[in-house]
Amino acid sequence: MSERGKSIYLEGIGGAGKSTQIKFLLEYMSSLGQETILTREPGGNPAAEKIRGLIFKLKGEGVINADHQMALFFAARYLWVTEVVKPNLDKGIHVISDRSYFSTVAYQGYAEGGDLDTILKIADVVMEGCKPDAVILLDISPEEAAMRRSKRSESDPFDSEGFSYVTRLINGYRDMAQNNLGNVPWTVINGEQSVEKVSDEIKAVLSSTLC
Ligand code: TMP
Repeated sequence: MSERGKSIYLEGIGGAGKSTQIKFLLEYMSSLGQETILTREPGGNPAAEKIRGLIFKLKGEGVINADHQMALFFAARYLWVTEVVKPNLDKGIHVISDRSYFSTVAYQGYAEGGDLDTILKIADVVMEGCKPDAVILLDISPEEAAMRRSKRSESDPFDSEGFSYVTRLINGYRDMAQNNLGNVPWTVINGEQSVEKVSDEIKAVLSSTLC
């Protein structure tokens, strides 16, 4: 039987550089001879992508609170875990994801006021034992975030929240990383460095995770 694949999650606020970085990782993993898939949350499979659209629509209309959002993110996540994450890990294929349940802790918990313990308890059930092997936080300051956001063309309703929301998010992420929330290995990378430097640091985490 092949060895189980590793799951590696990229975290951070919108504009931190996750999407830019994730593009380089498939090629890097394949240069190491490591079969890998890239995925994202919310989404990653057709049904979960539909829930993603629904969440953004309802959040944009202002008709869902933190608990409603949590329920919808976990519905999408359950599809993602059972249809994408588990089957690949079981086949020995690594899974790198743009976001994970730690985004729910950051956004619906720290930023929107949802109960952190409840989120973690639901995550425990929904993740079906798929504990992350590494979580990488791309960290940028609230000021840098505001500057990058003002230049971004694409955005979702979470990106349109104000400075204090973004500050709660960033502080929440820093708090999670400092406490290794979920008893998983967190690595904080300064996302304000050059794209190349950030990429090198992410690759170093991937290499050590594969050992
Ligand atoms: P992104 O894929 O462009 O990062 O967009 C996903 C958006 O959804 C982003 O603004 C963060 C938000 N989000 C949550 O609020 N909670 C979650 O659990 C996840 C996965 C994402």
